[in-house]
Amino acid sequence: MRVDFPLPVKPVIQPPPMVEEVLDDRERLSLKNRIKKLMAEQDAVLVAHYYTSADLQDLAEETGGCVSDSLEMARFGHAHKAKTLIVAGVKFMGETSKILNPEKRVIMPDMGADCSLDLACPVDEFAALCDEHPDRTSVVYANTSAAVKARADWVVTSGIAAKIVKYLHGQGKKLLWAPDRHLGDYVQRVTGADMLLWQGSCVVHEAFKADGLKVLREAHPDAAVLVHPESPEAVIAMADVVGSTTQLIDAVRRLPNHEFIVATDNGIFHKMRAAAPGKILLEAPTAGEGATCVSCAHCPWMAMNGLRKLAAVLEAPIGSPGGNEILIEEDIRARAAVSIQRMLDFAAAEKAGRIQLGD
Ligand code: 13P
Ligand code: SF4
Repeated sequence: MRVDFPLPVKPVIQPPPMVEEVLDDRERLSLKNRIKKLMAEQDAVLVAHYYTSADLQDLAEETGGCVSDSLEMARFGHAHKAKTLIVAGVKFMGETSKILNPEKRVIMPDMGADCSLDLACPVDEFAALCDEHPDRTSVVYANTSAAVKARADWVVTSGIAAKIVKYLHGQGKKLLWAPDRHLGDYVQRVTGADMLLWQGSCVVHEAFKADGLKVLREAHPDAAVLVHPESPEAVIAMADVVGSTTQLIDAVRRLPNHEFIVATDNGIFHKMRAAAPGKILLEAPTAGEGATCVSCAHCPWMAMNGLRKLAAVLEAPIGSPGGNEILIEEDIRARAAVSIQRMLDFAAAEKAGRIQLGD
């Protein structure tokens, strides 16, 4: 049962201008060498999201780090023994690492790398909604601030959201979901749970257009359509596979199709090409009739990460403002750790077959 409380749709957050790092081969090599040396000296490992630049993704893999979705980024950083975690992604990913690893130094190439979902869910507004609905278990997407996570009962990522909501629904719980209305709506449709939905959205995924996708699919009838669930319902309705970034990459590897239409940030193409060389990848359209695309298939906050900034951060004195270290008040960190740990424990139990989700 979907609960249609008239929560106001949040105004679309205005993203910053897209500024991507452009490097020639010489500068790239010299920066990578400098960074590798600094990382070794500082016992650092690089954890990068699939939406960051090809240079950062390559560097993460060359140095024994990882490139992954937000769930695996959290798991990898937690399990790794390095004293310093470099998180190339957006702020909530750095904060999640710090929440799980208070004893480690967590740094980011750019502290301004935000997320429209996080920005659309200020903690005071979220807490007020929770207070209004004490009978509801609160489930928040990982794309939220540490303070929102600290107020929530559960944290989920797109890769595990439906499973956790299905489990909670099976326990008879009514839910309050924040902040992504499209992901919340999708999870509600597949689980049938009673969910009150916050009305935030992702500036990148919100822009995919069902009309344009229909035309592209007609031109490529054998292509499989892969959609991230932060996309609007009409786009999800045309998907052959709906999933987290990792699940979409797996689909390109696994499915027999030769062509794929991909509705998520195009930074993911770097990993998809490596996973399935020779397959044809097409960007789902963000333009067309009624186009409102402000960040056309690429996240401007993810694009703030780059090798030049990473080198500068590692060269700054440790603890100085230029060192871009994530710091979180201990009380908030400890409370946020409980709701994130619930998700990690659930993921481990489900993988081990200790949680039966039924049909
Ligand atoms: P994933 O958890 O699928 O990597 O998604 C994170 C994100 O910000 C997508 O826009
Ligand atoms: Fe946030 Fe969207 Fe960027 Fe992901 S792509 S970090 S959800 S703004």
